[in-house]
Amino acid sequence: MGDIERSWLTNPSRRAAIARVAGLMAASPIASAAAQIDPRPMGEHRRALSLAEMQSAFDFEPLFFGNVSQSVYDYTGHADGSEWTLRRNRQAFGWVDILAARNPVPASQVDLSSTILGYNSKFPIWMAPTAQMVALNPDGEMGMFRACTAASNTLMILSANTGTQVEQVAPASPGGTLWAQYYPQENLTTTQASIDRLQNAGCQSITVTIDQTASYYERTLQDRNLGGRGGRGAAPGGRGGAAAGPAPAPAALTGAARYRIGAGRIWYTWQYIDAVRKMVKGPMIIKGIDQPEDALLAIQHGADSIVVSNHGGRSMDYGASTLENLPAIVAAVNGKVPILFDSGIRRGSDIFKALALGANGVCLGRAARWGLAAFGQAGAQRIIEMLQQELVQTAAAAGCAKLSDINRSKIKVNFV
Ligand SMILES: Cc1cc2nc3c(=O)[nH]c(=O)nc-3n(C[C@H](O)[C@H](O)[C@H](O)COP(=O)(O)O)c2cc1C
Repeated sequence: MGDIERSWLTNPSRRAAIARVAGLMAASPIASAAAQIDPRPMGEHRRALSLAEMQSAFDFEPLFFGNVSQSVYDYTGHADGSEWTLRRNRQAFGWVDILAARNPVPASQVDLSSTILGYNSKFPIWMAPTAQMVALNPDGEMGMFRACTAASNTLMILSANTGTQVEQVAPASPGGTLWAQYYPQENLTTTQASIDRLQNAGCQSITVTIDQTASYYERTLQDRNLGGRGGRGAAPGGRGGAAAGPAPAPAALTGAARYRIGAGRIWYTWQYIDAVRKMVKGPMIIKGIDQPEDALLAIQHGADSIVVSNHGGRSMDYGASTLENLPAIVAAVNGKVPILFDSGIRRGSDIFKALALGANGVCLGRAARWGLAAFGQAGAQRIIEMLQQELVQTAAAAGCAKLSDINRSKIKVNFV
């Protein structure tokens, strides 16, 4: 017998019983709205919205979900372990207040242009390297690169696990800026060949990602068990390879690799980074810095810039958010090299907070993938432009006419 029936037996009060039923209803996820950190996306409405109706990055996510298979969705949507870090990356933005300006500036007077490592940008927003875009939409990496260029020449870093060869992507958007990312591989001859290939294709800067050492995407593993193609860290749809990427084929998933601890990404040493530094002709960026000590080591070993990133919660669960880690890294780096930031950015106000905490620029990961998967190249462009305009709007409201005005005095930080 359930609680309610029992209460009818033991308590003759009809009013008390009705109150209990009402209490159960209120707690039910069916009857009450789920707790939301951000407003419910318009795209959750039963009619699929058009591109013109998109109001925020969150509107694209449900359309992305509807457009692709479960395994393709899972590969982008999920992260390591219990996904605490994935959630914390988002929540941390809520723990920083923006202080409204007594003297706001008109949005038309906000100029957020800057030069980082020789690249002149109108907005401090870059495209993070993310794998296998062709699985999201046939426009793939070429569409994303064109979208970036159309959106005020946003710089794109091509993933080592690109779905389209670097030689095809680089010429796809004349006038655009394409840099490349690379995962360490122990063999120096292979490393040299991979880096030469990227540089010969026109990528003037190499980003070396050091955080993807032993990741574990349970959802992707599950998809594979159900017949999907997600191997360890491998996006569904195969690999095009800008450079030799580390993810093994699903057939190789035995023993340790079955749990995603493959041989590919797990290895790097700072001596190896010294060797890579000599191979990279332009700026070398080290991506995946989470702690001040590693930031200093990266600089000591030749990094011209670092990306403060936890791979969007994909490399290690139960780490803090990148936003919480940023201030200590900024203090340690003390202006020696420019600092880029990613993980969790979905709004212009998020970007404002990262800049106020000392980042010189930010990179978009999942948000841009939602746009590409929802509407192809046009969707990706729209997301980038939305975030650019939201950033301008936030800067205007906070009284910041230029990038250097965006600093600690414009925010209140509620985490310690
Ligand atoms: C589906 C997916 C694939 C990714 N592939 C790569 C990659 O190949 N190389 C890399 O350095 N980072 C990769 N990343 C990490 C991103 O560069 C970036 O750090 C992360 O997406 C930022 O978090 P966010 O998506 O929450 O914004 C990937 C991220 C996602 C979501």
